[in-house]
Amino acid sequence: MTAAVGRPPVARNEHLTFRANMGAGRHGWLRLTPAYGVRLVRESISRLPAGSVVTDPFSGTGTTPLAAAELGHHGQSVDVNPFLIWLGRAKVRRYSPETLLAAVDATREVIRTATRTDRDAILWQPDIFNIERWWTPGTLDALKALRAAVDAHEGPVRDLLDIALCRVLITRSNAAFNHQSMSFSAPSEKSARASARDARDSAPALFDRAAAEATISAFALEMDAVAQSARFALPGSAAIHQGDSRTRINQLKEADLILTSPPYVNRMSYVRELRPYMYWLRFLNLAGDAGDLDWRAIGGTWGTATSKLNGWRPETDTPVDDAMAAVCARITADGGKNGPLLATYVHRYHHDMWLHFQAVTPAVKRGGAVSYIVGNSAFYGHDVPAHTWYAAMLRALGYMNVEITTIRKRNSNKSLYEYNVSARRP
Ligand SMILES: C[S@@+](CC[C@H](N)C(=O)[O-])C[C@H]1O[C@@H](n2cnc3c(N)ncnc32)[C@H](O)[C@@H]1O
Repeated sequence: MTAAVGRPPVARNEHLTFRANMGAGRHGWLRLTPAYGVRLVRESISRLPAGSVVTDPFSGTGTTPLAAAELGHHGQSVDVNPFLIWLGRAKVRRYSPETLLAAVDATREVIRTATRTDRDAILWQPDIFNIERWWTPGTLDALKALRAAVDAHEGPVRDLLDIALCRVLITRSNAAFNHQSMSFSAPSEKSARASARDARDSAPALFDRAAAEATISAFALEMDAVAQSARFALPGSAAIHQGDSRTRINQLKEADLILTSPPYVNRMSYVRELRPYMYWLRFLNLAGDAGDLDWRAIGGTWGTATSKLNGWRPETDTPVDDAMAAVCARITADGGKNGPLLATYVHRYHHDMWLHFQAVTPAVKRGGAVSYIVGNSAFYGHDVPAHTWYAAMLRALGYMNVEITTIRKRNSNKSLYEYNVSARRP
């Protein structure tokens, strides 16, 4: 047996998170940091009889419906984010041999066109603030040329090309995408030297051309990886719906299992994390769109969503109002000028999850199971036990066998964990 050479050891519990999905075929197509690991999902689903219905009301990158379809079940999911709906649908599609052959031709054509594009051509670029911080000029030229060349295609082939383009955006970016603050790296010594040489020789095209060529080659490699994993047929089926899981989604079949990882109460913004993809694929055009979309997402607080929180009022009581009021009072007291806003954030999040639990219950079969993977959080040192409050809400709706299991410690912060809140509908 040969030992795996040059690979760092897998950190404990990595199989539970997005990182675990990177090598897992279609699951690794694009990253969303809070995606959960496909292994965890497969473990839960593998206990079901063949042909079961598995629902994820917070689809994200479509991990659950894809895993369900891979294991011969029917997976279905819902998300508010139109980009994630598009991605999920592309991930669970069956790609015929003809489509895959057409994708090979299209890739050649895109590379040819992008390579020949005059770098002075005026091409569309997304309206991303400070775009030059994300990509060097040569890379940006190539991305624009690739974007224009991909635009000439349509249908499933176009989706595969767009996924490859998204992957290149990341591999060729200066931003570190593994954290939501998206830090930017300083130019490497090599690129700084090259820039200095360019300035000296007043031949800027030299360095730019190298970056552009590297970007176009990266596209070819990414497309190859995407097409390879698109080849594997899915024995089951899947459907991904656009919708708001706080309301009843009529298209859903009754589920044997709800398996999901909803937004955590930690101010993470999915729109913020996804914005490079969403801008380049034209799901977002104006900065204002992002805030509007985040306001519709549970727990979203990015941009205008934060100012809208100030005027938010609950439309209903929840079964955890007393416990929540006590925690919110402490957050208000200790949070200085941001305290009241964060207390409202915590309140709105659980209020919305209560709307969700009520809306989803009729879409669970009697005797069917639910499993919510969620983390607690802390504001100004005060624990916000979302898992405990989920359990209380499920009990209030009559669910049986409500249990909380600890899955893992989330990071170096001693108080943050990820839990599985599971129950059975009577
Ligand atoms: C933690 S992520 C899900 C990650 C997913 N398990 C995966 O593996 O990629 C939560 C998702 O919930 C979605 N979401 C937030 N509010 C929603 C709502 N009201 N209705 C439906 N989806 C919502 C977000 O857009 C985000 O994609």
